Amino acid sequence: MSRRLIIAVDGPAGSGKSTVAKLIAQRLNYLYVDTGAMYRALTLKALKVKADLENEDELGRLAKKTDIRLEQADGSLKVYLDGENVTMAIRTPEVTNSVRYIARAKPVRAHMVTLQRKLGENGGVVLEGRDIGTVVFPDADKKFYLDASFEVRVGRRYKELKETGANVSEEDVKNDLKKRDDSDINRSIGPLKKADDAVFVDTSDLTIEGVAGKIISLLDTR
Ligand code: DC
Repeated sequence: MSRRLIIAVDGPAGSGKSTVAKLIAQRLNYLYVDTGAMYRALTLKALKVKADLENEDELGRLAKKTDIRLEQADGSLKVYLDGENVTMAIRTPEVTNSVRYIARAKPVRAHMVTLQRKLGENGGVVLEGRDIGTVVFPDADKKFYLDASFEVRVGRRYKELKETGANVSEEDVKNDLKKRDDSDINRSIGPLKKADDAVFVDTSDLTIEGVAGKIISLLDTR
C-alpha cells in the first residue's frame, strides 16, 4: 500500500498554488484543503453579522461558533458556511478586500490551525495556503513554495476575475495584490514565508500542468 502523505503548498496570491494543489490532490486521489477558502468564509460571515473587523477577540469568538466545511465533488471544491453553499460568495471583491483583517487576528488563526490539523492529520492530503509548511504542518512529508513575478501574478488574477465576469481593472487587481502581499508578509503570526525545507518553484514561465507534473515527480509515495 502506498504512503498517504501530508503535502504543503504555500505561496502568494496568483502564484498558481490553488490550481496546482487541486491538480495534485486529484491525481493522487488525496483530500484537497484550500485554507484560504476557510479565511474567506469567516470573512463573509464577519461582514454579514457586521462584526468589528478591528476587534480580534470578537473575531475569535465568531470563528468558534461558525461552521465551515469543505466538500470535494467532481473535481471541484464546495465551501459551506453554517450549512449554506458560499463557494462563489467568498470570491467577491468585498470579501477579498476584508480578508486581511480576519487573517491577522491571532485567535482566528489559532482556531483555523486547529481545524486544519484535524483535516490533515491522517495524511493523504494536500493543504494549500500561506503558513502550512511553517505553522500548520511543520513536519509535512513534502513542502512546496510557489511564487511568480508580480506582473505574472497580477495577469493571472486579472484573467481569473474577468472569466468570472467581475468588473475590475488591472489597476484594481494590482492594488489588491499589493495590499494582500504586504499584509500576508508582515503579519506577526503565520506570515507568508517559505519554510527552510520547502522546494521553491518559480511558476512565472511554467504552465500549471508543468508545475503539477514537476511536483508529482518529486513525491515519493511508495
Ligand atoms: O489563497 P487565497 O488568496 O484565497 O487566501 C485568501 C486570504 O486568506 C489571503 O489573502 C491570506 C489569507 N490566508 C492566510 O492568512 N493563511 C492561509 N493559510 C491561507 C490564506
